[in-house]
Amino acid sequence: MHIDQQTFPVFARDYQAKVEALYAAQDADRESAYNAVIQSCSNCHQSHCPGPLMKIDKMSIQASK
Ligand code: HEC
Repeated sequence: MHIDQQTFPVFARDYQAKVEALYAAQDADRESAYNAVIQSCSNCHQSHCPGPLMKIDKMSIQASK
């Protein structure tokens, strides 16, 4: 497992975009915007650092209904 020069920046930019979208989100969209951030953590971790995946996947907000 190492930092892949091709894919790491792609995952990193996706993560940044998801964080910016969370900051910009309206109240009603915050839950899904937050979950998109966590999904982005998970995407990078699946290929670059799988150890914390069990914890990261628990960070998602479950549907409140
Ligand atoms: C672009 C890729 C990428 C994204 C996005 C990312 N991570 Fe990571 N993360 C890594 C890598 C690579 C490491 C290992 C760093 C090292 O060992 O020096 C790491 C390390 C960690 C660790 C520490 C593991 C340990 O052994 O101490 C945790 C916890 C973690 N990340 C959680 C998260 C969470 C939560 C998010 C989202 C909020 C996130 N990561 C987003 C790539 C990423």
